[in-house]
Amino acid sequence: METQQSGTCIYPGSFDPITNGHLDLIERALHIFKTVIVAVANNPEKTHLFTAEERKEMIRAAVGDNPRVIVDSFDGLLVDYAHRKGVNVVLRGMRAMSDFEYEFQMTFMNRKLARDIETIFMMTGLRWFFVNSKLIKAAARAGASVEGLVPDVVCKKLQEKLHRKEAY
Ligand code: PNS
Repeated sequence: METQQSGTCIYPGSFDPITNGHLDLIERALHIFKTVIVAVANNPEKTHLFTAEERKEMIRAAVGDNPRVIVDSFDGLLVDYAHRKGVNVVLRGMRAMSDFEYEFQMTFMNRKLARDIETIFMMTGLRWFFVNSKLIKAAARAGASVEGLVPDVVCKKLQEKLHRKEAY
């Protein structure tokens, strides 16, 4: 069946680092949207393992040469960024019920800030239900292999950080 693609969505997140669950969502979003803007939040209040530039580089490498995926970063409020980009759809992935409360709060805050921006949700692919960036970092820090759960470029970058003995 022919599918219809519409407009652009912003897929925001920390992506510290990007996982195969994120990638799965991007691929599936491209069945619905013509363009997906993967927006890396540059939140100074959060301590990230990777810099925003490193996170963007890993996303670009993982996504490959796809002109329909734009990798960008933003400071400040997501809704302000969406307005600057002229995009009114924010996409978020939802794994289990445990994600719900956080997503619910964020959606309502964004809605309070800007009623013209809609947040939509897609369920994470079943294979990636238990994968999140925090667990990936914890596993890698403890010396476990995270191969198959994150793109190869992320495995490599995690290894590099480990070898440089940087703080996790
Ligand atoms: O991957 P994450 O950490 O769950 O992503 C959360 C993110 C980056 C989407 C969220 O923290 C965010 O939108 N930050 C930008 C600041 C903002 O707009 N805050 C108000 C809404 S809670």
